[in-house]
Amino acid sequence: MGVNDRPLMRVLAGEALWPPPVWIMRQAGRYLPEYLATRAEAGSFTRLCYTPELAAEVTLQPIRRFGFDGSILFSDILIVPDALGAEFRLDAGEGPRLRPTVDREGLDRLASSLPLERVAPVMQAVRLIRAQLPAETTLLGFCGAPWTVAAYMVAGRGTPDQGPALAAARTDPGFFAALIERLVESSITYLVAQLEAGAQAVQIFESHAGSLPEDLLETLSLRPIGRIMAGVLERRPGSRIIVFPRGQGRRLADYAALGAAAIGIDQDTDLPTALASLPAGVASQGNLDPNLLLEGGAALDRGVDRVLEAVRGRPHIFNLGHGISKDTPVENVARLLARIRSAA
Ligand code: CP3
Repeated sequence: MGVNDRPLMRVLAGEALWPPPVWIMRQAGRYLPEYLATRAEAGSFTRLCYTPELAAEVTLQPIRRFGFDGSILFSDILIVPDALGAEFRLDAGEGPRLRPTVDREGLDRLASSLPLERVAPVMQAVRLIRAQLPAETTLLGFCGAPWTVAAYMVAGRGTPDQGPALAAARTDPGFFAALIERLVESSITYLVAQLEAGAQAVQIFESHAGSLPEDLLETLSLRPIGRIMAGVLERRPGSRIIVFPRGQGRRLADYAALGAAAIGIDQDTDLPTALASLPAGVASQGNLDPNLLLEGGAALDRGVDRVLEAVRGRPHIFNLGHGISKDTPVENVARLLARIRSAA
């Protein structure tokens, strides 16, 4: 099977498939007992990310169990700042932590470009995964969008509203623009390396797009993502890029116009309205509320059917509107897949 015969790749090329191909954001994660076992073996989250054999193992676990059409590299969007020197860690019971980068001096202490030797284990994981994946499964690489990554870098942690990064963007725009620029360049290098190692498409996660006010959306989100896409496409013409601007469901057409093959849609966005706003030929992805997967049963079935009805006849990749919750019963994931794959 050639790369372009894979169902998910066909949808990224604009073809409507029935039933649609499916993968789940955070499909390798804490709802799976086998993930928890490998994570314990690794000792820490970053060790798991930087140990090629273990990262490959957890990437493949949900493929073995469920046979998803897409396999997403197991890593994290905070690996890029870590490789730049920001010291990412994730301790038990706490969210992600980084050494905060709050001004020009802090930025100057980080690497001026992404040190490829530091992310070499990630690229080795990509090669190991591709060698073991079924031929029909698409391997997805990813990165965080500059605004979302910068929000964690400035605060040194997750925050409810990205307040520290918004304040920095307003009070020290020169520093903030330089930080975004560093992340644009690093992300191009990082995504191109993933594509060269064997990823067949990549997703850019703008998970905190929703916290950006109208007057900052263009400079801090749309333009940087557009520059990453142009940089990747210049070095790897024809690359398929999925953009997920969570919380900006009314601006999906603006993100699509950057050259995206597909646009991720969160669960707070009305699906028929969002689909009507997308240009023909741009695929859609997502929208199922992760809470329905937590709940299961008839509520899950109805949610799946609603998405299927809305997307019939257009290129769509079945997925959630955000990552799967760690408390999700594994059997609900099996139920979701059975429901999609038996869709008439
Ligand atoms: O989707 C996948 O299966 C691929 C791997 C992946 C992870 N994180 C693994 C992970 C991907 C694509 C991400 C992206 C990511 N990481 C995003 C963008 C998507 C989103 O969820 O909005 C963000 C914002 C991050 C930063 C981050 N990393 C957060 C907020 C957390 C969760 C902290 C918590 O305790 O809930 C992480 C940790 C993380 N990344 C986990 C996983 C499976 C949980 C880690 C664990 O404890 O084992």
